[in-house]
Amino acid sequence: MHNLLEFRNLRKSFAGPGEGDEKRLLFDRVSAAVEPADRIALLGASGQGKSTLLRILARLDVMDAGELLLNGTSARAVDPRIWRKDVGYVAQHAVMLPGTVEDNLRTVSMLHGTPYDRGLAGRLLDRMGLVELDVRKQASDLSGGEKQRVSLIRSLLLRPKALLLDEITASLDRSGRENVERALQDWNRREGTALVWVTHDLEQARTVSRRTWFMAGGTLLEDAPTESFFREPRTAEGRMFASSGKTGEGR
Ligand SMILES: Nc1ncnc2c1ncn2[C@@H]1O[C@H](COP(=O)(O)OP(=O)(O)OP(=O)(O)O)[C@@H](O)[C@H]1O
Ligand SMILES: [Mg+2]
Repeated sequence: MHNLLEFRNLRKSFAGPGEGDEKRLLFDRVSAAVEPADRIALLGASGQGKSTLLRILARLDVMDAGELLLNGTSARAVDPRIWRKDVGYVAQHAVMLPGTVEDNLRTVSMLHGTPYDRGLAGRLLDRMGLVELDVRKQASDLSGGEKQRVSLIRSLLLRPKALLLDEITASLDRSGRENVERALQDWNRREGTALVWVTHDLEQARTVSRRTWFMAGGTLLEDAPTESFFREPRTAEGRMFASSGKTGEGR
């Protein structure tokens, strides 16, 4: 049996701002695996490269070095568009396509050649607390929190095997956030979709995840069951980070 997603020794650097500037190393030796139906929280201070790592896993960005595999097949052997049918990414800042909400929900199905399931779209809108939303509305007119949920539903409709979630509840109020958390937990149980969830909300991390990946010091420093990461982090950086949210910051 292969892992659903596996990566070994990923390295990523970015060019400096000026011409001829040295490249800046963002992270190195980043290794971990995602199993089917996993629920993983990806934590770490701002700027550690959480979004960049998710984008590399979704083949929206390229790594400098390392090995990335989907069901045991190297990324080098799979077209990124095919890869992204199995590995979905929901961005930190939702981007709406032109047209109505329904156009947005349909477009991705069309691009991937899969049928549009209007009933499921309706049920998901309901579950995400968007029961009042008129799908004939222009997507560009939605609020930030509405856009985030529509873009999440757009990704769920493709039924990826792994879904990479980048701070998707950042612009939601408490009830919106709880709706999304519950809907995704149910979806994970029913569909077996693996979730990798970036969040700065440590209470949310504890609620939604089974494992925690913690990025610090230019690498993936800890990979542990969520309960043991919060109870007893292995590193000084992990201890400092885990205790900073004990009061349930942001709730
Ligand atoms: N295309 C790019 N070119 C140059 N630098 C970049 C690029 N993309 C990201 N970076 C830099 O890489 C670093 C990590 O960015 P990233 O967005 O992955 O961090 P993050 O952990 O998701 O942070 P946050 O928690 O604030 O979202 C940042 O310093 C960012 O400026
Ligand atoms: Mg980010």
